[in-house]
Amino acid sequence: MDPRTLALASIVLPVALAGMAAAAPPSASGAPDPQHGEVLYLRHCVACHGARAWGDGPREIPALAGQREAYLIEQLRGFASGERPGSAMHGPAMRDTLRATDINRPPAIRDLAAYLARAPVAPHAEQGQGRSLAAGKSAYLRACAGCHGEDGAGSDVASAPRIGGQHYRYVLSRLRDFGPAHGGRVEAVALSAEEQQALADYISRLPGGGSTP
Ligand code: HEC
Ligand code: HEC
Repeated sequence: MDPRTLALASIVLPVALAGMAAAAPPSASGAPDPQHGEVLYLRHCVACHGARAWGDGPREIPALAGQREAYLIEQLRGFASGERPGSAMHGPAMRDTLRATDINRPPAIRDLAAYLARAPVAPHAEQGQGRSLAAGKSAYLRACAGCHGEDGAGSDVASAPRIGGQHYRYVLSRLRDFGPAHGGRVEAVALSAEEQQALADYISRLPGGGSTP
């Protein structure tokens, strides 16, 4: 290794460790602490995901409020490790955010997920143009409802996320990438552009369960 790199590493490492010790959360053990999760959310996530974690459809930023806790934990771990690369524009930013020393630890990720899972869901999702809802419905009931539920609430048994009431353009972006979005767990389905739009539009209008504000 280049000796200059080595010297730099020995400076950076103690600083990083000191930062971690200073930021120890109250919930290092035991039950997750949603209030600490809210503090972390407001510090690191609010700029993109919004004040109430309702996301932004046109920018393909998902709503997080009311999402399943176990799913959130898994995704945050995936972003932090790079296992979920994220979209070209935001994946790297997400990964940098999750490197912050007060977040990059399992208890902090659990606190964040606990806060988000209990937050009231967005009352209005961005929707499509509503042109092929009947086709969207029949495809959804045939190929998706078994795991994601008829109302789009998802299922912990199937580890399937809540997708009902999620923003149209975000859902569409995930359907373009159906294989990776399913982590290789669901046999890749080849969906035409029309089918993707019909499904995303139908899904954005599903209630999805969860409490509304
Ligand atoms: C720079 C903007 C930005 C910041 C900051 C940001 N996110 Fe994201 N996040 C996005 C975008 C865009 C996506 C969707 C695209 C993707 O998957 O990369 C996303 C996706 C997610 C997902 C996946 C949701 C799903 O339904 O699969 C989770 C969970 C998430 N973000 C949580 C967080 C948390 C928690 C923080 C703060 C620690 C955070 N994000 C900070 C922009 C951001
Ligand atoms: C065998 C169960 C199963 C079936 C069938 C299934 N999914 Fe999924 N879906 C999952 C799981 C599990 C995940 C989360 C994968 C992960 O953890 O990364 C997921 C993720 C998604 C996501 C990403 C959600 C987000 O917030 O980013 C969308 C959108 C989605 N599925 C839509 C569909 C659609 C549309 C269909 C039908 C054409 C479908 N799924 C069929 C289990 C399933």
